[in-house]
Amino acid sequence: GHILGIEGTAWNLSAAVFGGDRIIALHSSPYRPPSGGIHPREAAQHHAGEMKAVISEVLKDPSSIEAVAFSQGPGLGPCLRTVATAARAIAFSLGVPLIGVNHCVAHVEIGRWACGCDDPIVLYASGANTQVLGYLGSRYRIFGETLDIGLGNGLDKFARSKGMTHPGGPHIEALAQKGEPIHLPYTVKGMDLAFSGLVSAAQESQAPLEDVCAGLQETAFSMCVEVTERALAHSGKDEVLLVGGVGANGRLQEMLTTMCGERGASFYVPERRVIGDNGAMIAYTGSLMLAAGQTLTPEESAVNPGYRSDEVVVGWRDAGAD
Ligand code: ATP
Ligand code: FE2
Repeated sequence: GHILGIEGTAWNLSAAVFGGDRIIALHSSPYRPPSGGIHPREAAQHHAGEMKAVISEVLKDPSSIEAVAFSQGPGLGPCLRTVATAARAIAFSLGVPLIGVNHCVAHVEIGRWACGCDDPIVLYASGANTQVLGYLGSRYRIFGETLDIGLGNGLDKFARSKGMTHPGGPHIEALAQKGEPIHLPYTVKGMDLAFSGLVSAAQESQAPLEDVCAGLQETAFSMCVEVTERALAHSGKDEVLLVGGVGANGRLQEMLTTMCGERGASFYVPERRVIGDNGAMIAYTGSLMLAAGQTLTPEESAVNPGYRSDEVVVGWRDAGAD
């Protein structure tokens, strides 16, 4: 059977059909703000307007769909509600179960599937989230995370203040390649990270923009690598998986490759179409959850903007992996 998955927690409305261990169809309609950052209600309006087109593009054979999975949280409230409403309506009309997927867990699961890794320490670096996770006792435990903003949002904020368009991450990466990193404040507290002081200092720097971009990347990525390395050492695991939109960055991939090489660990990063927000991660995680019987009643299908990765009981991985 096939699972329809719908993602739309923030900037990307995306739907996919997963079945037979492959992505059968995937289609997205990204929201690009005309200026400034992402406004939750405007993004939700974009999602509502594009919903029919995006779903029609992947749903060629509705009778093959066994369940409808949607991203239940975390994310922007208006966006989550728009997606949940569509998912409930489709599940009801097809007479199939509804599955509420945690967006962070879905990033991790599609990464594991795409890379074929077994039991990794995960660096999940995206717009709103920056976490280091590992599977332990039926949950993805958060070993460390940002205490303020997500790394991607920090990069986007810096970029916007320098007149670059949204999203800023790719622009910063291109500029950083031409610069020499300047020194900027580095903040790791125990296993946690903080980025807002770093971003403010970068915004205030008078150094050439290329050098500031290089310094911002080197500092933020070194912080992430430090916490990932410590999680690897403490957990005794020997794989690192990089997921989330910031994971597309070549310099971050290079730094993690070096750290893993020095520790004798394997480094994995999924192909680009499944590293950032995408419907396939929801459809795939939905297929795992359906097999484990983790479906929702309509009453349980309310969205959860603050849904944390470690709230999810991972009923689809065997206890042997504990
Ligand atoms: P989440 O809800 O998981 O926090 P998200 O909605 O922000 O995710 P993602 O697609 O996972 O969406 O990540 C988007 C972020 O990735 C943006 O902040 C963007 O600037 C950043 N990004 C994309 N490409 C790059 C890159 N090459 N280098 C650095 N950052 C990047
Ligand atoms: Fe995401």
